[in-house]
Amino acid sequence: MIVEDQAGVTFAVEAAMARTPDPRLREIMGALVRHAHAFVREVRLTEDEFEAGLDFLVGIGQATTSTKNEVVLACDVLGVSTLVGLLNNPMGPDHTAAALLGPFWRKNAPACGLGDSIARADTPGVPLLVSGQVRDRSGAPIVGAKVDVWQASPVGLYENQDPDQPDMNLRGLFTADEQGAFHFRSVRPAGYPVPTDGPVGLLLSAQQRHPYRPAHLHFMVTAPGYKTLVTQVFADDSENLDSDVTFGVIHSLLGRFETEDGPDGPRCSLVYDLVLEPGESRIPAAPIP
Ligand code: BEZ
Ligand code: FE
Repeated sequence: MIVEDQAGVTFAVEAAMARTPDPRLREIMGALVRHAHAFVREVRLTEDEFEAGLDFLVGIGQATTSTKNEVVLACDVLGVSTLVGLLNNPMGPDHTAAALLGPFWRKNAPACGLGDSIARADTPGVPLLVSGQVRDRSGAPIVGAKVDVWQASPVGLYENQDPDQPDMNLRGLFTADEQGAFHFRSVRPAGYPVPTDGPVGLLLSAQQRHPYRPAHLHFMVTAPGYKTLVTQVFADDSENLDSDVTFGVIHSLLGRFETEDGPDGPRCSLVYDLVLEPGESRIPAAPIP
């Protein structure tokens, strides 16, 4: 099709893609092109702005390293990751809500025994005991469910961002017992800023947005016959609960980190149950190795 004017470009691209045999690819690319063209028209994108946008996309690719996925981060701070998660895992009264995976999940966390500590070296901080039960919507325990946990340290860094932490520090894979129960020891995580040394950081400061996430623990729970649950539990006394830079906080994901005085100073505990829906057990692609 020969293009006659700006309006004709959209028809020409749609016609060129119309033979795509895969119906889902055809649908997704058709909608993407229509929305992208509508966006360009709505804001009347200038050539300089187009180049700046392309530089941003190139920049997030180039800023992606073995310890940081800037592309995932961009989707996170634009709310796309949370939106995809909530569309595909609708909230309901009888199961645990999903929250974004984030860029720091790693496959192959060390297998741990119940009660183990995921602090693999001296990690100064307030001792934390986490416990809960994995069950289905009817309340039955899911025996043998795999509970993959990861968290930032008390200074707000994941181990792969921090040369002072050993490999796989504050990560562990637990197996729920005959009652579906799990428990482990750790240190209380801090809230932290998402990485701001790349194009996403520049975008946040141009938008006068702070880069912080409230303190949280990440969980990925899998069991055959159940939909994989990827979620986060937020400390209900944390700062920035209502301004999480990644829009991940949901009321039902607030957990009470009970603090008490122990023999060596304060210590805290969190009890949080994880309820799975029936469905497909699927492991997401890891954003970093
Ligand atoms: C995280 O919770 O690990 C995270 C999520 C989004 C962006 C950065 C970090
Ligand atoms: Fe996190």
